[in-house]
Amino acid sequence: MSDSKKRVLSGMRPTGKLHLGNYMGALYNWVRLQREYECYFFIADWHALTTDYADTSQVKKNTLDVALDFLAAGLDPEECTIFVQSHVPQHAELHLYFSMMTPLGWLERVPTYKEQLENIKGKDLTTYGFLGYPVLQSADILIYQAHFVPVGQDQVTHVELTREVARRFNSMYKTEVFPEPEALLTPTPKLPGIDGRKMSKSYNNTIGLTDPPAIVASKVHNMSTNGQRIRQSDPGDPDLCPVGDLHKIFSSEEVIAETQKGCRTATIRCEFCKIDAGRSVAAVTEPIYARRQQYESQIDETWDLLLAGGRKAQARSEETMAQVRAAMNISHDLGALRRHFVHSEESRNALRDLSRHSDWWTLPSDQRSKLLRDYWRNNLVPYDISLSQESNRIFPTIEKELEEPFITNRKKRVGPLLLAEGEYPDGWHFRLPTKSYEVWVLLCWEKKKYLLHDLILPQKVYSQAFAQAKAMVKQGDTIHVIVRQRLEKWSLHFPNLQLGQPVGDAIVVQSDDGLDVTEFLHNYQPLQ
Ligand code: TRP
Ligand code: SF4
Repeated sequence: MSDSKKRVLSGMRPTGKLHLGNYMGALYNWVRLQREYECYFFIADWHALTTDYADTSQVKKNTLDVALDFLAAGLDPEECTIFVQSHVPQHAELHLYFSMMTPLGWLERVPTYKEQLENIKGKDLTTYGFLGYPVLQSADILIYQAHFVPVGQDQVTHVELTREVARRFNSMYKTEVFPEPEALLTPTPKLPGIDGRKMSKSYNNTIGLTDPPAIVASKVHNMSTNGQRIRQSDPGDPDLCPVGDLHKIFSSEEVIAETQKGCRTATIRCEFCKIDAGRSVAAVTEPIYARRQQYESQIDETWDLLLAGGRKAQARSEETMAQVRAAMNISHDLGALRRHFVHSEESRNALRDLSRHSDWWTLPSDQRSKLLRDYWRNNLVPYDISLSQESNRIFPTIEKELEEPFITNRKKRVGPLLLAEGEYPDGWHFRLPTKSYEVWVLLCWEKKKYLLHDLILPQKVYSQAFAQAKAMVKQGDTIHVIVRQRLEKWSLHFPNLQLGQPVGDAIVVQSDDGLDVTEFLHNYQPLQ
């Protein structure tokens, strides 16, 4: 799965084995999406509890039934991530955060809420969890930072609410963690049940997705014609007959043309028209039936597939949750707060000792830079100085993140913190971009003692030499700077500049000793 693929998420409540209507309305579409997108498909067992909390005896069985039908229908665990909602507890954590910030009014206005309160009899749905149903659904979707949600028309308002939750979160916590997902409407052909009404479990008129072929044939055979051709000598209208609708969905052009003509001219008996329709439906369901048999015969392996999917989903969820927790100040690391409790010079200096992190030395340089830079910001800079990067942005790569300057409380731009490329006998070497910033921070990591030193240089210290060095390099090049430590003295050197030589109309100011920057060592004044 490549990173550039857009993400798709969808789920189904576990209501037991699926019927053809579920297949045509959703699954069929999912199977096609799995190759094109990074897909997550799950069984929403927690959502089932919002209505079935009083009797949970069927939930697990139904969950497994739906999972078996997902697999039988052709969702491929190699292509997409298939899992059970309750196997990914991160959904519940995100649901909790969302529940803190979702206004009650939003939920009371969701049309499905009022409808179901009125229509579902025999269950007390005046509960906290039932009102929160769409909040949990928002968490399901947003935790994968999904771009598309393939659903039927009835779920569109839930996706709308999800967009509002995403927007509210992003603006409230000044972040861009969540993209706003879009509903991918599944075009649902009118699929009649065997009594001619819409196919639905509650009408008891379904053809099961994994009914054995003989059952499919007999169900179609017994289908109502909706009053058409009571007498077989009468012509009929296939557009008014549910069997005609089945043909339109499942039969080939030729069979459709032939049966429609036969119906209109009373030259085909309904019985034979139905046999043809049954055959067309079975052509779709038979391989699905066979695959279901296969998975059922290996039920432990099937369950293991779901557990593995759950682990993949957890790993992806954790990536989002780390950003969510950071944005909400619930992150697990102590971070910058440590500085708040470090008062003495001595203990501050102890924080420069990174021998605990000596393994950072072996990392690729951009990773090492990021770790050291975050460490510097969280541990060494005084607590009352805030250094923010624009609005908690998510950066596509570490390199991009390292290029982005920090902004101080007073809106000073702090040039990207630079980490020495390495420590050489003549000092620490840096390559500074030619952009100008109000402050430079140069981090020098001393390998011998694993001490982290920082020079915080205001523009006035380096501007003249910097301007001259800039005139000598090509546009877009970097400027070579060396930091040298001799006894207690720290100095800055620009090797591009040759002593005493005119550059443009100025004379190089650098003396042999370089610029004395000792006073800016560990001195955070310039950041104020
Ligand atoms: N509410 C959906 C239904 O009843 C099931 C569902 C739960 C869902 N979470 C989801 C669908 C997230 C899409 C995305 O069918
Ligand atoms: Fe329906 Fe077919 Fe009979 Fe026409 S011929 S009424 S389409 S079953």
